[in-house]
Formats: sequence, C-alpha cells, structure tokens
Amino acid sequence: MIVLGIESSCDETACALVEDGHKVLSSIVSSQIDIHKIYGGVIPEIAARAHLDCFPAVLSECLEKASLSSSQLIDAIAVTQGPGLQGALLVGVSYAKGLAYKNQLPLIPVDHIHAHIYGALLEQMGEKEFSKEAGFFPSLALVVSGGHTNLFLLEDRLSFRVLASSRDDACGECFDKVAKLMGFEYPGGPKIEKIAVGANDHFFDMPKVRIHSELGEGRVASFSYSGLKTHIVNLVRGKDEVWWEENRARLAASFQRVAFEQIRWVVDQAMDKFPKVQNLIVAGGVAANNCFREQLTLVKRPLKVYWPKLKYCSDNAAMIAGLGYYQYQSTPNQFNPVGNWETYARFGSGLGKGDH
Ligand code: KG4
Ligand code: ZN
Repeated sequence: MIVLGIESSCDETACALVEDGHKVLSSIVSSQIDIHKIYGGVIPEIAARAHLDCFPAVLSECLEKASLSSSQLIDAIAVTQGPGLQGALLVGVSYAKGLAYKNQLPLIPVDHIHAHIYGALLEQMGEKEFSKEAGFFPSLALVVSGGHTNLFLLEDRLSFRVLASSRDDACGECFDKVAKLMGFEYPGGPKIEKIAVGANDHFFDMPKVRIHSELGEGRVASFSYSGLKTHIVNLVRGKDEVWWEENRARLAASFQRVAFEQIRWVVDQAMDKFPKVQNLIVAGGVAANNCFREQLTLVKRPLKVYWPKLKYCSDNAAMIAGLGYYQYQSTPNQFNPVGNWETYARFGSGLGKGDH
C-alpha cells in the first residue's frame, strides 16, 4: 500500500510517498528557515503563506522522484492534523482534502508528535518487527524537538500513553534560545552541538532539574527547561567578548550535558516503573545530536535504542505517511475522501496540547 504524506505544521513544507509504512519511495522537504531566521523564530502568518506557495512544486518533485509505475497507484493520503501553527496546518489539510476529493482517496488525519516516532522506524523496521508478535511492545518513545519534549509508553502500534511532557519550554526551543544568547542564528541546536565538541562539559555548574511531579500510576511527569534557560541568561549577563571567546564552547558543552541528563533521568524512572520495557525509540529534531545519543547509552539498564536516520529527525512527510499507514491498516473503513470532515477540524487537539 502506497501512502502520500503531507506535512505543514511549522516551517517545513513536505510531501512523501511511503510503501507499507516504512519503505520511502521519495521524501521532499522544503525548509523556510531562510525566510524566518531574520526574525529569530518562525512567524506563523509568513509560514502559512509560504506553504501555500510551495506545495505544488514540492508535490510534483515528490511524484517525479518516486517514478511510480502505472500499476503503483497512491492508495491513501495522510496529512498532519496537529498540533502546530493553525494557519500552517490549515494550508496542508486543505491541500490534502482537495487531492483526496479529486482522486477519491481515503484521507487519514495524523498527529504530528506521534508521527515523529514512526520517523525512527523508516527504512529500518518493517511491519513484522514492529508488532506484538515480535515482542516489540511495551516500548518507550521519546519525541524531543523544537515544539515538544514527550515520553510515551507504546503499548501497541497505535496505543500511546503519555508518561512525561514539557511544563514550559521544549528542549529544542531551549537550545534555540540559548544559542541566540551565544550569538547564533535560528535554529541554534546544531550550532551548540558543533561548538561544544571537545569542550569541558563540567566547566560551568548548571541547575539539575528534578520536577516533583514524578512519574507514577495515572500521573504524568514533567520536563522543564525554562529554569535552565534563565540560569544561562543570568550567567552571561554583562560578559564581554573576551569572556565569550574563552567560554562559549564550555558553556555550550555544560548546557547540553544537563539538558540531556534531565531526559535520561526521566527515562530511568520509566524503566523502574515498566520493567518489561526493552526498547526505546528516540525521535524529533534534537535526536540528531550526538551528545544526546551518548547520554542515552548511560541509562540504568541496557535498552535497544532506535534512532531515526538523520534526514527523518526533523519535520518531514515520510513519518506522516508511516503513521497514516498503520492507522489505515487498523481501521480502513474509518477514512474516506468525502464526509466525516469534522475529524479534520480539531486542530491541535489531543496529545501535545500545551506544547506550543
Ligand atoms: O522536529 P523538528 O524539526 O521540529 C519541530 O517539530 O519542532 O525540531 C527542530 C528543533 C530545533 O529546535 C533545533 O534547534 C533542534 O530541533 N535541533 C537540535 C539539533 N538539530 C536540530 N538540537 C540539538 N542538537 C542538534 N544537533
Ligand atoms: Zn516536529
């Protein structure tokens, strides 16, 4: 089954064709970073207009790159329903609705945060391995990006239980804000990682964040990054260029170490709580960071960790098509090209609410 994925929740316009949930036939992402970086962050109205301009070209390139034969037709369309920027989502959903109606294809609404998890499976794990029969569940899944810091318990392919979510700034958002203080352009995460290589990551004392709402039965734990950000704002206040020259790399290294220790600490708690868990899927833009990858090797007992390929860490439409495929497999009769539009009207609903 071939699913066309459509993504427009933030500043990436993306289309992808994915076969059977994991084999990527083509994935095209058009980033708006150059448009937004002069403002230091994403401007929602500009993002929506840019999606409107970009979709036709992104879709044609996607279809061309996949070079489908006439027998390989698209079977369904999956589109990001939320959470994300309202105007940006509206463009993608309207575009997908039009395509689905014109071609009389089932339209599958997909949650962007859940879809990141499927991004880690693309081209790495097929339907057989990602199943109860193969003993894959229960597993943990982390989504760490510019808009979200979430830890889920995956009880089955489509059953997500939130174990922890962000109480204030998301992890990637904190990287971007700290990077801005250091004089780097948006998005700052990759720049912090680059400059920190080889620097002393214990040079600066950093606050250890231990939120009291610990993970427990029926309770959701929190990730928090605004205290860490404020600590750095205070630390660098009034510092001159000589200080920055000497300390920029040490500060980057110390910051990213504690930023990731917090996540490791919550994963450790989850492993205590769910001793049957053997696997951890890590996804979202921040999953590209090597220091993060090293931190997660230090969890309290061995876990098999699944990382997305670098091209599927950040926002893309292949992950949307991946999750759309599993949703369709589970309830094929629920999705149709006409009628039942109310499902698509609930922008930003469900998990991740409050993360934006
Ligand atoms: O998943 P994503 O593309 O978009 C959202 O859905 O938010 O994540 C983007 C975020 C940005 O905050 C960016 O700074 C961060 O991921 N990021 C990184 C790295 N690469 C991207 N953060 C730390 N280290 C990296 N190497
Ligand atoms: Zn995302």
